[in-house]
Amino acid sequence: MKPNERHQRRSTAIRKTMDAVSKTMAQPHAVDVIDTAKEYLIELAKKSELFPYEDFPIPEKANETLYKIFSDEDGQNALYVYVTRSGGVYRPHDHGKAWAIIAGVHGHERHYFYERKDGDLTEGPAELVNKGSVVVGPGSAASCMTRGIHSIEHIDHQPFLHLHCYGYEFEQQDTRLEYDLDKGIAVYSNDVGKILDMPLSDE
Ligand SMILES: [Fe+2]
Repeated sequence: MKPNERHQRRSTAIRKTMDAVSKTMAQPHAVDVIDTAKEYLIELAKKSELFPYEDFPIPEKANETLYKIFSDEDGQNALYVYVTRSGGVYRPHDHGKAWAIIAGVHGHERHYFYERKDGDLTEGPAELVNKGSVVVGPGSAASCMTRGIHSIEHIDHQPFLHLHCYGYEFEQQDTRLEYDLDKGIAVYSNDVGKILDMPLSDE
């Protein structure tokens, strides 16, 4: 497939998926609602021929990159491609007011889920309780409801590429909290590095 044709087909698939996801997530949030949205994203991620590494290059000297490939006009229902050379570890965090779905395209990572003991949503002392984990790779996905806490461990130690979908784009995740397990504290942090825009093709 030529790059132009691939871009066109990818854009069509993304528009269709995100239309379904936004309509699903516009319903009152419940676990089964986000599970339905997760299935739409898994189906998109299974079209791995539309997401080759060559279309989402990592800048030299960087280990990872986020491409923003879709969001509604008001910044809701944002979709990113995350690509990395060798992976790493991300400490526990939530996504502020945004729900999150991560669907695997190429490679694997493990997501760990947590609950904060005191249920607080602000900075300060915080103790987390481990709530299990799941491996995300081709054909699978992980999700967090709004304020759900997860950490990520890249288990392949080789390049991988996944889709990250959020209720709101990163710029609007301004109450995003990160957790330092050793110190037992939560701090506000919305520094996710440089994000590259990759607009869809014209309809
Ligand atoms: Fe996350």
